Amino acid sequence: MSLSLIPGQKLIAATHNPGKAVEIAAILNGRFEIVTAGSLDLPEPEETETTFVGNAILKARHAALRAGMVALADDSGLSIAALNGDPGVYSARWAGPDKDFTRAAEVIWHKMDVAREQQGDAFTTAAWFTCALAVAWPEGHACVFEGRIDGTLVKPRGAKGFGYDPIFQPEGFETTFAEMDADAKDAISHRSRAFAQLKAALID
Ligand code: IMP
Repeated sequence: MSLSLIPGQKLIAATHNPGKAVEIAAILNGRFEIVTAGSLDLPEPEETETTFVGNAILKARHAALRAGMVALADDSGLSIAALNGDPGVYSARWAGPDKDFTRAAEVIWHKMDVAREQQGDAFTTAAWFTCALAVAWPEGHACVFEGRIDGTLVKPRGAKGFGYDPIFQPEGFETTFAEMDADAKDAISHRSRAFAQLKAALID
């Protein structure tokens, strides 16, 4: 069994989110034939692990075993130091079934105000995005890569991007992810950092 990915190979993007599949295909420079778990009607597993790495492997293995093909899955989210790493692996869930990230940002800032009172001088607005990217082979082997970008939690600014982009300002920048063009965000994002490791290890 070869543990590398061969350009042209068919890969399952273990996601039911067509946007993510497009993003995965773009990051892999269109060099692979990407099919989504959703288009193959594979059931979506429950994300029962407590780490990004654990959930990424769980999703990739689940798809690879069912479809008999190499599968790729990511798990990502925003962690906030003053909230003990929350929302972390629960980032999507904090936005509720309506995926209301405006509301999620309000909830986060309410919790931050409480944390500021409780933590005094120890309080910080440090935050980071993490992306774990797992590749699983149908024979059972899996490997995982993790990318991270550090920054600061800020009040919402900007309308580009998605999710928590408006409340995250990466270290060394004056703009939030939601104020940056997609290319500028891609150059430094947790997701592109995880993909760079994957490419170096399995493709190039
Ligand atoms: P996942 O689909 O389980 O990986 O959920 C990740 C959640 O984290 C999503 O709901 C996003 O809101 C959030 N998230 C992950 N990456 C980013 C990002 O680059 N910008 C903004 N939000 C993100």
